[in-house]
Amino acid sequence: MAAFLEVQNLTKSFGSNTVVKGVSFAFDKGEFISLLGPSGCGKTTILRMIAGFESVTAGTIQVEGQDITHLKPNQRQLGMVFQAYALFPNLNVGDNIGFGLKIAGMPAEQRRARVDEMLRLIGLPGYEKRYPYEMSGGQQQRVALARAIAPRPRMLLLDEPLSALDAKIRVSLREEIRAIQLDLGITTVFVTHDQEEALSISDRVVVMHAGNIEQLGAPHEIYNKPATRFVATFVGQLNSIEATILDPAARTVSIDGHIVTVPHLPADAAANVLTQLTLRPEVVAVGASEGNDVTLTGTIADVTFLGSVIRLRVSLGKNVISLDTFNDQRTVPPVRGEPVTISLASKNLLIL
Ligand SMILES: Nc1ncnc2c1ncn2[C@@H]1O[C@H](COP(=O)(O)OP(=O)(O)O)[C@@H](O)[C@H]1O
Ligand SMILES: [Mg+2]
Repeated sequence: MAAFLEVQNLTKSFGSNTVVKGVSFAFDKGEFISLLGPSGCGKTTILRMIAGFESVTAGTIQVEGQDITHLKPNQRQLGMVFQAYALFPNLNVGDNIGFGLKIAGMPAEQRRARVDEMLRLIGLPGYEKRYPYEMSGGQQQRVALARAIAPRPRMLLLDEPLSALDAKIRVSLREEIRAIQLDLGITTVFVTHDQEEALSISDRVVVMHAGNIEQLGAPHEIYNKPATRFVATFVGQLNSIEATILDPAARTVSIDGHIVTVPHLPADAAANVLTQLTLRPEVVAVGASEGNDVTLTGTIADVTFLGSVIRLRVSLGKNVISLDTFNDQRTVPPVRGEPVTISLASKNLLIL
């Protein structure tokens, strides 16, 4: 099956500054895709090129096999939602949602029916007479979503639509957006710098850095098998452990005096050379745990109470390892300076 959205060698330069550097990806119909990366990496520029608000320096954009690279925005049949509330302040909710339909010449009666349908979809039935200033930020963004969806676009483009909202609303609204997207089966490109947001609602994630794609994959692939050091550190927490290689053939290293066999060493590994291992906080347990073949002893360096989770920092000597434990109301959290034994599976000690 041909891809629904295919971008090839997409490039954008502003003067001598190339901010999107030959990006290619292909997605299927109905996929929810996130462009994830730090501020300034080119996410918005890519979205605006797909939408037609920004010209393309090089490369092509195809939707359903049609080359749309040089079409005007209104010829692309795409719906867009921006970061800041971009509702028309002088129009009520009904007229905001019906705006694109009116431009397309839809008769008033049909328009009203479609606006009603959209208001039910976003959980705001009966709100058509309200004005944007009479609504919360979360409600305004739902209206912006409804306005984008109303003309039945073939694709939805969302540029950090949740970033201006407070944390609780951000989480509930992202789940709502995902539910609506699945319900409609509409192919969606969602831009965010928030890794948790991207991982939680996407079918696939494009991790970007400085105008390039670092990795493209399902959330669990990005998180569990980061392709680069950048992805490993940008997506989720990561421990970096300094180890001394003991015997390259046996793949043994010393971590602060503990001898451990690791799954891989670099091809050029040599005895007595330092190497960096990485480890996710959640694969480390306090005490022994089934399947964990490495036991390390140290002292508690720091305890951060986060509610359902307690983050511990354990000093092994030179190395300090962060790990997360669930808050258990029946026990008292460890205290700084206490001796502690931690365990992990050696297969989780990775070299990037
Ligand atoms: N119209 C413009 N003129 C010049 N530089 C721009 C313009 N738009 C964006 N840029 C630059 O392009 C880079 C990528 O911007 P952007 O796509 O907005 O990043 P992101 O959305 O990932 O934060 C930034 O360095 C930004 O300053
Ligand atoms: Mg942006």
